Formats: sequence, C-alpha cells, structure tokens
Amino acid sequence: MRVTGTGHAGMRIDTPAGSILCDPWVNPAYFASWFPFPDNSALDWARLGRTDYLYVSHLHRDHFDAAHLRRFVSKKATVLLPEYPTSELEDELRALGFTSFLRTTSNEPVALDGGLHVMIQALTSPTDGPIGDSSLWVEYDGVRLLNQNDARPSDLGVFAALGHVHAHLLQFSGAIWYPMVYELPAAAKAAFGKQKRDRQLDRTIRYIDDLKASWVFPIAGPPCFLDDELWHFNDIVGDPGNIFPDQQAFVDHYAGLGRDNAVLLLPGSVAEVTAGGCRATHPVPDVAEFFAAKEEHLRAYQRRQAPVIGAAKASWRHPEIDVLLELKRRIEPLLDESLYLAQGVGGPVRFDLVSDDGDEVESIVVDFPGRQVRAYADEKVRYRFRTRRTLVAHLLHTGEVDWVNSLFLSCRFSAARIGQYNEFIYAFFKCLSEERLQYAEGWYDEHQRTTDVEDTRLGDWIVQRRCPHLKADLSRFGIVDGGVLTCQLHGWRFDLATGRCLTSAGHQLRSRRADQPPDQPAVQPAVQPAGGPAVA
Ligand code: FES
Repeated sequence: MRVTGTGHAGMRIDTPAGSILCDPWVNPAYFASWFPFPDNSALDWARLGRTDYLYVSHLHRDHFDAAHLRRFVSKKATVLLPEYPTSELEDELRALGFTSFLRTTSNEPVALDGGLHVMIQALTSPTDGPIGDSSLWVEYDGVRLLNQNDARPSDLGVFAALGHVHAHLLQFSGAIWYPMVYELPAAAKAAFGKQKRDRQLDRTIRYIDDLKASWVFPIAGPPCFLDDELWHFNDIVGDPGNIFPDQQAFVDHYAGLGRDNAVLLLPGSVAEVTAGGCRATHPVPDVAEFFAAKEEHLRAYQRRQAPVIGAAKASWRHPEIDVLLELKRRIEPLLDESLYLAQGVGGPVRFDLVSDDGDEVESIVVDFPGRQVRAYADEKVRYRFRTRRTLVAHLLHTGEVDWVNSLFLSCRFSAARIGQYNEFIYAFFKCLSEERLQYAEGWYDEHQRTTDVEDTRLGDWIVQRRCPHLKADLSRFGIVDGGVLTCQLHGWRFDLATGRCLTSAGHQLRSRRADQPPDQPAVQPAVQPAGGPAVA
C-alpha cells in the first residue's frame, strides 16, 4: 500500500485495487486565516485528483476545500460517505458535481472491488466537528491503515478488532482558538497554552498505545497563519505555550519517549507500507533541515499568498447589511425553538463588533434566557466576543450556518468570560439552521436521558466508567491526580469528592471513595473548588 502525503490531513492511498484521495486541502480556510503547511499548492493535483475514490472526512474547511475539489478531483470518483445524521456533506459534494456515492454504515467494513476493504467510523455528537467527524480504515492484501484524521473516538477497539494495523495516521497538534484569543495576562495564557499542548501530545500517545500500529504518522496539522495579524500563532521557536507544534516537534517529542516508529509525511512524501515494514521518500533532501528553516519557508509562503489574503479581505465588505436586524431575523426563531442549548448557555452572550477603522463598537447581545437578540444593555454577560463587524456581516451575507467552521476557527476575535467554559454556546453557534438545531436538541435530549450504570476503579476512587462529556471510557482515558480526575480525550476535569465538573457547567460525575459503600454520599467539601481552565 502506498501513502502519498498531500498536506495537512490529506493523503492519497494507492493499492492495486484502486486509489483513495482523502481530504485534499489547498486554499486558505476560515477567513483566510489557516493555510496548509508546508505549502502543497505545487503538487501535481491533476494527477492526484484522478482517483477512484474520494473520502472527505467532514465539512471543516481544512478538510473540505470546495474550490479545489471542483477544479481538480475527478467527478468519476466514488465518494466514500460517512454515516452522518444530516445530508450536508453529500449535498455539498453533489453541488460540486460528484454523482457516485457509497453510503457506509459506521463501524461496518465494506468490500470494494478487487479485494480493497474500507470502514468508516462516524462520530455524530454536536461537538464532533461541524456535526460529524470521521476516521477511515483501509485494508488491502493484509496491510491495514487507519486514517484517524482529527477525529477523537472514545475507543479504537473497533479498528483493532479487524486485525493488526500497520499505519496509524492521526492528529497531534491543536486546532482551536484556546487559549490564544482569550483576554488573559500573558503568563496565564502561556500556562494554559502549555497545559493544552501537553494534553494534546498525551492524548496522541494514548491513542497510539491503544492501537499499537507498526508505524505512526503525525498528520492533520498544524495549520500556518500567513496574515500579519495572526502571524504570532505560528510555532517557530518551539514555544512550550504554543498549541501548534509542527510534525517535526512531534517526531522529536516521540523520539524522546524512546519511540522510533514515527514517519513524517511532507506534501509529496511517499510511504510504501507493507506487512513487514515502511519505506518513506521525501521531496526534500533532509526533513529535519526543512523544519529548521521553517521561518524562512513561512516568510516566502506569506509573500506568495499576500494577494490571496488581500482579495479575501476585500470580499468581506457588506456595509449595506444592518447586522443587528439581520441577526434578529436569523437567530431569534432558533432561540425560540431551542430548549437544551439555550438552557445550557443560561445567560446573555455579548458581541462587540468593531468597525474596520477601530473607531466604533456596536455591542449586541444574544439573550438566551430572554430568547432575543438586542442591543447590549449594560448588563452582566457570560461570554463576550470582540471581532470585526465586517466578519459578522459576511457570515450573514453568505448565510453561514456554522460560526465555529468560519468565525471561531479563524481566531480573528478575542474573548472573555465569567466562569467555566460553556460548550452549549459553541454548539448553538454551529447550529444556525433548522436541521442542525433540531439534530443537536435531539442529541442532547437523548444524551441527558441515557443513564450510565457501569463503574470503574481509578486509584482510590470508584467513578462511572463513561465520561459525562462524550462517554470516553475513563478506565482508559481517566487520570487521577490529587483528587481531580482528568479525562484525556478532551481534557475535562472533575473534582472527585463532589463529582463536579471543573471544566464546563453541568456534566456531574458519579464518584465515591473506593472504601465507601455505593449508597453513601461522597465526601462534601465545605467550599466548592474553583473552576479549572477552559478548553475553548
Ligand atoms: S469525553 Fe470529552 S472529556 Fe471525556
């Protein structure tokens, strides 16, 4: 099996029974903030795009590049479609001209022609990607590959059960705005960043140890930031507080743990994977030297992309849009229908919209309890976002239904909040359509009603086996330290004495000391512990 790196989470998998092109991404995403690094625009895309199968893992714009798919990928390709609750991915691909779809069932292997087997695992909680993220398993002639992409399954057992995996490709770097956009003192931001960077690396190692594949490929990030306004997000000097370590940083970290089975893919690298080994060739003479000159590569890339960023910025101006009126029109009907999400947010959320010259600020509140969008009335708010009015006007102009997959991932905003991280805010702003909102409401309803009865022992504590967040198996992902349980899947923390979630509102954990009988209440501290650091 041959794996050709095509940049970021992208790859082309070639076997004698056919080729699969995965997540080709070239054009900048999220308000021209994210670019693939290293630059992959000079690859022979006409050749790479002549593929038998296309796999787009999910609709995040660093995986689904509509302009590139339209121009370069053969419309004769059969799309391997994850089993998602909404038809958005299929609809978008059909609109680009794809007509052949293989609708898979999550976790069920499919035999394709010529002895090629695939299986797609679809994750479908409202917090997984843009309502859905997925991983692709491929087998040909006894060689198995898992493209985990940036998905975070709670368990890799379903893949391991299909036989030893030879190539495991997975994310290791950050892909979020936390903590960089938060209005925090520099020292606090650096400390939270370090915590996040460490946690990402720990989680990656946990997945690697779970699957025990022969070869490990760090993929799916990090992006690079070429606009001057965002340049400081690039990790050029190995800053321990930067959440975007690059592939070489991961390989070095991994080697430091005594591991030697990592394979780095640059755009154009080719890895021949067999049951007995892996041989990789690269488009540069020395990969480590390439990364040592990262700043130089980034500056040259920035010069090449300056006109693209300039043109994108020019396209965002819509002075004719009355943002408050349009937000009312779009959002108030959704607030009226929202039960779980609106209750989960539980307070007003303020947007400070700054004019391009920075002279004027229009403050608007999305009042979740009052089910209203209105001018800010000098009240206490739970979250405050500050961004350019132009960006919100553009979201309204394009009818964007997912502000996470546009504004928030762009990192072109700052944020402040009182209290804990609140996942419902981001879930709501990625569900700005009837179809998405109804799905998310239904999901939370069901999630809320599902009782998790199984317990597991972690050190001196008995806790419910499944994480209250997204049901990760805490016997594998749970770490106990000083009376606090951290679930490594997304880093949520729980105070074991009270079961209180320290990361987000709600989400109580069932916990007790192991020497207490099950029916005895847990020890109650006199004072509730303070909230832990946020995750987004
Ligand atoms: S499943 Fe997300 S933190 Fe546990």
